[in-house]
Amino acid sequence: MAINWFPGHMNTTRNAISDRMKAGLDVVIELLDARLPGSSANPMLAKLTAGKPTLKLLNKQDLADPARTALWLAHYNAQPETRAIGLDAGNKAPAQALIKACRELAPLRGGMVKPVRVLICGIPNVGKSTLINTLVSKRSAKTGDEPGITKVEQKIVLDQDFYLFDTPGMLWPKIAVEQSGYNLAASGAIGRNAFDEAEVALELLAYLRRQPAYLELLRARYKLGEVNALNDEELLSEIGRKRGAVLSGGRINLQKAAEVLMYEFRQKVLGAISLETPEEFLAWSAAAAAAEAARLEKAEQRKRKKYEKGPATRAERDALAAEAEAAPDEEAEEAEEAEVANPADAADAADAADTADAAEGPRP
Ligand code: G4P
Repeated sequence: MAINWFPGHMNTTRNAISDRMKAGLDVVIELLDARLPGSSANPMLAKLTAGKPTLKLLNKQDLADPARTALWLAHYNAQPETRAIGLDAGNKAPAQALIKACRELAPLRGGMVKPVRVLICGIPNVGKSTLINTLVSKRSAKTGDEPGITKVEQKIVLDQDFYLFDTPGMLWPKIAVEQSGYNLAASGAIGRNAFDEAEVALELLAYLRRQPAYLELLRARYKLGEVNALNDEELLSEIGRKRGAVLSGGRINLQKAAEVLMYEFRQKVLGAISLETPEEFLAWSAAAAAAEAARLEKAEQRKRKKYEKGPATRAERDALAAEAEAAPDEEAEEAEEAEVANPADAADAADAADTADAAEGPRP
């Protein structure tokens, strides 16, 4: 799926996280959307904070399918140096549980001399501000910059010996797993101007109807009869008809139907739904990795063939040699793509655009 968004804060946030790693960090809190934990995990974060104990917070669990949230919690809790907790960011007691979990992940830290230093990260709209507001009590304080640390980082003193370092919500430029792009868009993590709503709604519908329990939720909400004979577009059209998305002449307004479906999914009007299980996400990731490996192999073969034939001119020989030498690593490629997505060459402009986009949220 084509998603046209500015990765926005990516570069500044990435630098802030690197600076935090250098300055000292004990635990990373990764705020995930409980409806799509795998897809809402930023692959760049794992690279940037490799080796640090991680607390995965599955937020918006009130919107997610509880059975699937349990699967994800078990999946993460089985990983080394990782704890996972389900959360509604506005709910005080579970939010407080994260402090205890962080202390357990950093047992050698604590006390005034060795405060626990925790970095909190998450994609835009995942509920980070809500969670921080819930956590911040009268005793807490937001403090200014620390010398040597990028301005974007906010230090929040949650306890005398417990510091939370907040970074702006961060997306990444290349979504390798196609289904993750659809799920992020359906959840509201990506501003609506960055994707085609009808395309995303059709993918959402295709997924929901394949799960017997979710098909029942669709049937109940839209009073659907037999749907097996309908293709996805016809089913969306039927939903549009049931919800009054009808144009003059009786034609169905598919765009409106798509908006209704996505809005009702996001607001839990359909019911508690999650868009992926650990097993599904791992299978999607493996398929994406295999496709990428095949693509790289093909490119390599093309290059070898070109070499075998032998470059005809000196200029071609030099160009090939330069190409081989330059072979960019993944990080450089990502940075390059960010530049392409942001031709104005203004990280700040991208930040502003992304903030506006992310703040937009779902349309009622
Ligand atoms: P961010 O800082 O990570 O960008 O997210 P923020 O806290 O602003 O939360 C984004 C939206 O998600 C807010 O809704 C917020 O109320 C909602 N939200 C956060 N945590 C939870 C949760 O645990 N459960 C539920 N159900 N909602 C949660 P909003 O301001 O109405 O925005 P939107 O819904 O229109 O996007």
